Amino acid sequence: MTSKTPGTHGAVLADSAPEQESPLVELRGAGKAYGNVRALHGVDLAVRPGRVTCVLGDNGAGKSTLIKIISGLHQHTEGEFLVDGETVRFATPRDALARGIATVYQDLATIPLMPVWRNFFLGSEMTKGPWPVRRLDIARMKRTADEELRNMGIVLDDLEQPIGTLSGGQRQSVAIARAVYFGARVLILDEPTAALGVKQSGVVLKYVAAARERGLGVVFITHNPHHAYMVGDHFSVLRLGTLELSAPRADITLEELTNHMAGGAELAALKHELAQVGGVDTGALPDDARAASEPADAGRPAAGKADGTERTSGTEEPDGSGKSSGSGKSSGSGKSSDTPSETEKPDNATSGTEGKV
Ligand SMILES: Nc1ncnc2c1ncn2[C@@H]1O[C@H](COP(=O)(O)OP(=O)(O)OP(=O)(O)O)[C@@H](O)[C@H]1O
Ligand SMILES: [Mg+2]
Repeated sequence: MTSKTPGTHGAVLADSAPEQESPLVELRGAGKAYGNVRALHGVDLAVRPGRVTCVLGDNGAGKSTLIKIISGLHQHTEGEFLVDGETVRFATPRDALARGIATVYQDLATIPLMPVWRNFFLGSEMTKGPWPVRRLDIARMKRTADEELRNMGIVLDDLEQPIGTLSGGQRQSVAIARAVYFGARVLILDEPTAALGVKQSGVVLKYVAAARERGLGVVFITHNPHHAYMVGDHFSVLRLGTLELSAPRADITLEELTNHMAGGAELAALKHELAQVGGVDTGALPDDARAASEPADAGRPAAGKADGTERTSGTEEPDGSGKSSGSGKSSGSGKSSDTPSETEKPDNATSGTEGKV
């Protein structure tokens, strides 16, 4: 384990896993149609051990559809889905779990009134004694839950407390530790920070980084480019079901990522609309689409749509290269304060989260 925290993400990302690790999970030109609705089309994505792949996108962009394919909830209707280089088609989430792919949903499947340790083992309880007098091995479950949580750096006062009394961030953290304990190799997190405040988001990001440090391949779904940039090694932005951007950390700054997410043209249109309404300060919004998107394009054609998409196709693409050099770029997080669409200051997010969650 490590004492590093996501708040100092430059340091966290500095010591990289081997650069050319082959993907645990890969999508090649994958897509999904729900009847006539094409929710996802032509998406390339690689999840590598010891790396965090961030999937960003606005509402309805296809993020959940993407992870539902990987987690075995839905099946893709186009392209290829590979696990350990082997083409797969999961019938149920159980198939995905059997291959070490665990998904933590935002509405965690916990029983609020049950103790933390009990929730930790929910559905996979430890037992002792021979049948028919087999019973729950409570002491071992408590001990193991305590050890595992501590291994992830999660210290709770009392594992007997109902899990419902923990904060949202703490519950997410317990769910991450649980997935790691039960042998996940790929951890999918669907918007784990969406409903959380700044501090609690920091707590969750810390354990995203901890899972990465333990060698898991993490897929981190978020709306928030700042959260993504604090822990991400690779960034994939979906828009209307297609991959708008796919770039390793080395090729993109936080500012560029934020602009991609904000959508320069949309922000400019929003400014025009809001200008008609009194009491809204639109001064910080860009005047036109060109101005808004300029920083993203300036001197960096590779981060553009077509090239970015190309980079993720095939197994030989060097997306992992973002990690080591990413530490240099990480200072870009300081630019977050310029960003009109963001009010949180995630670099402060981890303050006060040391030790306890
Ligand atoms: N079961 C379904 N049947 C029909 N259409 C669906 C279904 N699930 C998703 N869609 C459509 O697919 C598109 C992508 O939806 P998806 O839930 O993947 O987006 P998302 O990026 O997760 O959005 P959000 O940020 O709101 O969670 C949307 O247009 C949605 O209406
Ligand atoms: Mg969703």
